[in-house]
Amino acid sequence: MTILLPTTSTLPSPLGGTLVNGVRRAGHDFDPAELAALPRLNIGERTLADLEMLATGAYSPLTGFVNEADYLSVIERLRLADGTPWSIPITLPVSAEHAGLRGRVVLSFEGQDVGWVDVQEAYTARKAWEAREVYRTEDGTHPGVAALYAQGDFNLAGPVALFEVPRGHFPRHHRTPAEVREVIEARGWRSAVAFQTRNPIHRAHEYLQKVALELVDGLLLHPLVGTTKGDDVPAATRVQAYEVLLEGYYPQARTLLSVYPAAMRYAGPREAILHALSRRNYGVTHFIVGRDHAGVGSYYGTYDAQEIFSAYTPEELGVQILKFEHTFYCNSCGQLVSPRTCPHDSSHHLVLSGTKVREKLRAGENLPAEFTRPEVAEVLRAAYADKA
Ligand code: ADX
Repeated sequence: MTILLPTTSTLPSPLGGTLVNGVRRAGHDFDPAELAALPRLNIGERTLADLEMLATGAYSPLTGFVNEADYLSVIERLRLADGTPWSIPITLPVSAEHAGLRGRVVLSFEGQDVGWVDVQEAYTARKAWEAREVYRTEDGTHPGVAALYAQGDFNLAGPVALFEVPRGHFPRHHRTPAEVREVIEARGWRSAVAFQTRNPIHRAHEYLQKVALELVDGLLLHPLVGTTKGDDVPAATRVQAYEVLLEGYYPQARTLLSVYPAAMRYAGPREAILHALSRRNYGVTHFIVGRDHAGVGSYYGTYDAQEIFSAYTPEELGVQILKFEHTFYCNSCGQLVSPRTCPHDSSHHLVLSGTKVREKLRAGENLPAEFTRPEVAEVLRAAYADKA
C-alpha cells in the first residue's frame, strides 16, 4: 500500500533549468533506414552509461559529450565554460583513426546500434593533466586513472541521442530522472534525500539514511550499477541486498529504490560533486556525503569530498549536502555513532573496512550483526559461496 503524504511537492529545477531529453525512438522519432549509410563507432560499457546519463537528462544541462572549451573549463575551474558548476568532463574518447569523424555517427554497443552523436569537433585529451586535476593523482593503478589512460587520445564532442533506455538488468528499479521525479511528485514528498552507494549496504549506511529521513519526506536509495572495479561486490548482489532489507526495515511509503546507471570513477571529491548535481536532476533536495565519498585506497582525505562543495554557493548547487562523519557501531553505547556522538575510544568500536569484509566473505565467515544485518549477510554469503 502506498500512503500519499498530504503535501504539495516542490521539486528542485534541473541544473540549467530544463531536463534534457535525448531519447529518440526508432520508427517514432526517426526512420531507422536513415542510419544505414552513416559511419559507426563501437563504444564500451562506460561510454554507454554516459550516453544514457546524457540522453535521460541525468547530466543536464549537458546535451552531449563536452567540447574542448567545456573540457578545459571543467578541469581547470570546476565549471562549464558558461560558469555552471560541473566537476568531471563527460567525454567520448576515440583513437586517432576516428578523430576525423564529423556529423552524425551511430554509436554501437556489442554490435547493436544504441544511439548517435552529432560530432561538431574533436580535440586532444590532456590525460596527465586531467588525471592530476580530476583524480588528484597520475598513478596508473588508481582505477579511474587506469580507465582514463586506457582510452583513446582524442575526444569527440557533440549532442547525443539514445534509442532505448537499457533497463535489462534491473527492470523493476531502472528509472530515468523524469520517472523518479514522477514518483516523488506522486508520493507528495516536498523534500527527498538521495543516497549514492557502490558497496553492499551495512548498518552505517542505514544509519545515515535514517538520520536523513528524520529530516526530509523521502529517501531515494540510488545504488550505482555501472562499471565498478573488479573486486567491488557486483551490482546484482547489492541490489538484492537492498530488496531484502527494504522489506523488513524501511518505511515503504517514504523509500524509493532505483538504480543509478553511471560507471564509478573513484574520483573522490570531484565525483561527489557530479553525484550531487546529477541527483538534483533526479529531483531530490538533499544528498548524503559521508566519509571518503567515492574514494579508493588512500588517495583522498576522509572529508575532502565534503570540503570541495565550498567551491559553489548553495544557490548554484541547488541541492543541500548532508555531511556525515565516520559512523560505526560502539559496543558501549550499544548503537551506531560517530565521533560527534560517542565519548568512547576506538577499543569500544567495531570498524570493518570493505577489504576486511570481502576477506571474511571469501573465507565463508559470518559478518557481525552490528555491522551488517543478518538478511544482508546471507545475500552476500550466498553470492560468495556461488563464486567459490
Ligand atoms: S561510495 O563510493 O559510493 O561513496 P559507499 O557505498 O561505501 O561508497 O558509500 C556510500 C555513501 O556512504 C558515501 O556518501 C560515503 O561517504 C558514505 N559512507 C560509507 N560508509 C560510511 C561510514 N562508515 N561512515 C560515514 N559515511 C559512510
